Amino acid sequence: MINLAIVGATGLVGSTFLKVLEEKSYIKIKNLYLFASPKSEGKKIKFRGKTLTVQSLSIENIANKKIDFALFSAGSEISKKYAKIFAENGATVIDNSSAFRMEKSVPLVVPQVNPEALLTRQKIIANPNCSTIACMAPLKALDNIFSLKEIVFSTYQAVSGSGMKGLNDLKQNMLGRKSLFYPYDIYENCLPHIDSFMENGFTKEEMKMINETQKILGKKIKISATCVRVPISFCHSVSIHAKFKHEFNTKKAREILSNFDGIKLLDDPQNNIYPMPIIAKNKDDVFVGRIRKDLFSKNAMSMFVVADNVRKGAASNAIEIMETMIKNKLN
Ligand code: A2P
Repeated sequence: MINLAIVGATGLVGSTFLKVLEEKSYIKIKNLYLFASPKSEGKKIKFRGKTLTVQSLSIENIANKKIDFALFSAGSEISKKYAKIFAENGATVIDNSSAFRMEKSVPLVVPQVNPEALLTRQKIIANPNCSTIACMAPLKALDNIFSLKEIVFSTYQAVSGSGMKGLNDLKQNMLGRKSLFYPYDIYENCLPHIDSFMENGFTKEEMKMINETQKILGKKIKISATCVRVPISFCHSVSIHAKFKHEFNTKKAREILSNFDGIKLLDDPQNNIYPMPIIAKNKDDVFVGRIRKDLFSKNAMSMFVVADNVRKGAASNAIEIMETMIKNKLN
């Protein structure tokens, strides 16, 4: 039995934590504390047949509570302010923001890929970026056999990656109203702009994919990325071009991908079988297909990967981290 806190419980990822925990009824919870901003104080949320009351996040409201795990998804600023306080009170924090991901001592974990990072028993664990999570299992599976050298990512990311604000802009645009969050309309449009631009010409989202992939795979692979927001509600898709040290073999790749934990192979293009957001939505697997050998380099290949960004890309991965820690008594 665990004592659990959810910080950002009223948000898109926060409410998905609750949905995933409802499904995973085998995770036994003694006390569940829900935190959000002062405007949500007193809000009632139903969970496993009980009505819980949302509390405003404050030092007073967390003092004197025994919390084993705290799942955070209320943005980087809240994580920077509160994660250490929860950790000092004894909780293991699993943080969905980018606040700590690149700190050397902080494990950045996809449980199917690098669970060994949890053995350091750190009190703050980072959940990777949503597009990065989608790509890690297929890349790790292929790296094990062919040894990765270079990657090019091109993403097609859903508006729910921006939380409620993104979903609202798409809905409002469809009613003929202007975006409030994005710099342009997203309906009938694609924005090659996710998070802010940096001096090197890349966006912060693109740099997250580059830096986090190197950290999770534990290799200084050469990586480039272009991240694009597209007008769909849920699921991030990624076109991946990868180069390996060894000659790429499509048959072998399909075999290892279909046997890797957390991957569903959908790769029969002649019969229109390939990954798509409408297939990945509400699932926790990463869907992989369109696997093909490069036409000009015998050591390179392309594939298309899709995952539900709010579930596997955020809430479910964080809960899988928590489950791994409980199972191995690492908290
Ligand atoms: P609230 O609903 O009270 O604003 P999303 O990414 O979907 O927009 O969700 C953001 C989450 O972060 C929401 O649960 C939101 O709560 C929460 N949040 C925002 N500001 C704060 C804050 N100052 N303290 C605690 N939680 C916050």
